[in-house]
Amino acid sequence: MKQAPKHPVRLERQGNVSLIVIENPPVNALGAAVRRGIAAALNAALSNDKTDAVVIAANGRTFPVGADIREFDMAPQQPSLSQLCSLVEDARKPVIAAIQGTALGGGLELAMAAHYRIASKDARMGLPEIKLGTLPGAGGTQRLPRLIGPELALDMMLTGSQVSAGIAAEMGLIDLVTSNDLRAEAVAFARSVKEPRPTSQNRTHLSDGSAYMATVAARRAQVKMELGADALAPNKIIDCVESALLLPVETGLQVERSAFEDCIASRESAGLRHAFFAERAAAKFPEAAEAKPEPVDRIAIVGGGLMGSGIAIAALQSGFAVTLVEQGESGVNAALERIGAFYERSVAKGRLSEAQGAAALTHLQLTNKLDGLGEADLIIEAVAEDFDLKAGILSEIGSLAKPDAVIATNTSYLDLAALAATTGRAANTIGLHFFAPAQSNALVEIGVHDTASPQAVMTGLGFVRALGKTAVRARVHAGFGSGYIGNAILEAYRHAADLMLEDGATPAQIDGAMRSFGFRLGPYQVADMSGLDIAYARRKSKPRDPEARYVEIADKMVEQGWLGQKSGRGYYIYIDGQRQGVPNGDVLKLIAEHRAKLGITPRKFTDRDIRDRILLAIVNAGARLLGEGVAARPSDIDTVMIHGFGYPRGRGGPMMDADATTPSIIASRLSILAPEEPTLWGAAPVLTMLAQERQKFADLNTA
Ligand code: 3HC
Repeated sequence: MKQAPKHPVRLERQGNVSLIVIENPPVNALGAAVRRGIAAALNAALSNDKTDAVVIAANGRTFPVGADIREFDMAPQQPSLSQLCSLVEDARKPVIAAIQGTALGGGLELAMAAHYRIASKDARMGLPEIKLGTLPGAGGTQRLPRLIGPELALDMMLTGSQVSAGIAAEMGLIDLVTSNDLRAEAVAFARSVKEPRPTSQNRTHLSDGSAYMATVAARRAQVKMELGADALAPNKIIDCVESALLLPVETGLQVERSAFEDCIASRESAGLRHAFFAERAAAKFPEAAEAKPEPVDRIAIVGGGLMGSGIAIAALQSGFAVTLVEQGESGVNAALERIGAFYERSVAKGRLSEAQGAAALTHLQLTNKLDGLGEADLIIEAVAEDFDLKAGILSEIGSLAKPDAVIATNTSYLDLAALAATTGRAANTIGLHFFAPAQSNALVEIGVHDTASPQAVMTGLGFVRALGKTAVRARVHAGFGSGYIGNAILEAYRHAADLMLEDGATPAQIDGAMRSFGFRLGPYQVADMSGLDIAYARRKSKPRDPEARYVEIADKMVEQGWLGQKSGRGYYIYIDGQRQGVPNGDVLKLIAEHRAKLGITPRKFTDRDIRDRILLAIVNAGARLLGEGVAARPSDIDTVMIHGFGYPRGRGGPMMDADATTPSIIASRLSILAPEEPTLWGAAPVLTMLAQERQKFADLNTA
């Protein structure tokens, strides 16, 4: 963990105004040393007769973005942020917060405890605590409704979204927005105000008690309906906002404190905080020590199917110039239709203005010729998952690309090193594995083979980050088939599910069990959505493991033409093209006949059995990937599962879940299952090691 700077707060003077300047890079988090520094500086300023007003400001790119989240798991240190905010509000000289960058969470709460707030024009502010499974715990739930009313305050706290300085001023959260030098404006403002103006004494929005209560009641009903009565943080936020009206501020602050502590102690908050840091750890690639990303302005994509078009949209949305190459006129037209449909939908739904949609499309060049590739800084091959097809295209790309261009293949399971070799410049070639739908899925796995250059890897990472997506590094060894993290785990997940299907469970039961765990869709709903023929082709192209039990149910379905949503029939039947299916009775018949043929007497699986087995399979596959060095840290696996496969974020990911159960219990459960199917249930060496050493996966995480 990074050490906070020794003196993260300085006290300066400009005539009769004292400036408390926070400097705690990178984001001025309000850790214990910063809080102590602000309290000491404030006391010094208040006891200085030459000071008439105080400005709280921050150096660097932003005003504090909140409490230091890492401290949530440590013993509390005085002053708490809540105590500090009370100290600021109780100051007998005017205190002005000068906000630049993003004032978030505890940072905004500090600003609300100040008597006045001035912000740069491009500043933004918000209370994102709900995204960490908690609530503003430094007076935010009490002061925000007093400043902007319960409706807007609940909007901000229940969504965690940010507002611009301009909007914040309209709401009454900011007193002055400036395009000039913030510090100078804040000092001038400080000289213009005479008295402190404690937010807690502001009764403007509390005066109409019945309107206030009606707002709270409506929001309580909405949260109950949408999230349930046991959704901890949202319901506690509403309780606290209600307390702001009904209780004196001191008691309201106590209610808030105890609600905050309950939330922080919850499993969900621990999971969400883990996910936050896991995403940031995943972005730390070892190649950063050796190389920096090269600038990427123009990208080219070869293959304009669903994946290629999705990547093109993601790139256009992030301001890249895109050349998309498809075969023949019909291929070009189909790609144009797909991309055009996305923009039409976005405009119709009000996500983009017509002008924005049209402007994005002016950066798209669609062609059926490869000769435009020479201008691109990054070329992504996104044709069908067939080695020979990809190898042919990559070899052409290799001969056309400019010398320093990075070439990427979107393969999901073919041999990356062998594909890279076909370009004739393996060092410049990497894997960029997007997940469908690529325009919206947040995850990209970056495949790093043995001879990939740090420069190419870092350029790929820079591109993925510029798309606003989360990158996870997968070390793909030569000759290693399904090299990436996500697919290898998905294979184990599916295998565990298929074994239960063959042995007695139904697709709907397995899907239901996984939905109740927190996945949005179960494995068979996902299979129907992706198209059963895709997985079928993949199974047929791979040599079978003679030791593994092969479940033929999906193959038999494909051979009947039941391909999922695209054919209207898969594990479910989709009437009139609807996305919500009803169980397909013919599949149940097919499964029953299949079991009878194999002499399998169906057995019962409870929902718990189903969840346990699937989670064991996921964790064991994850442990295997750690042992093989494909995944660098357990938290990378968590990030892949959350973003790529919808693992419930509040659980932090499968490896965090495994730690809660403990690796030794997992290893002993696996040993019970191992005789049934050793290839799936045989414990991975890393898991066995952790069990023996009484360690956890978290012990293998690196920052
Ligand atoms: N505490 C501790 N570390 C933090 C932090 C925080 N609140 N916010 C960011 N960081 C760290 C990150 O872990 C990262 O560290 P690293 O370099 O070692 O990986 C570094 O700061 C930079 O962060 P990002 O990579 O995320 O930088 P970006 O520029 O992409 O994003 C940001 C900046 C929008 C501020 C984003 O970091 C963010 O959303 N941070 C969390 C904000 C938040 O949730 N605030 C509320 C905290 S809870 C609270 O305040 C409780 C209070 O009510 C009592």
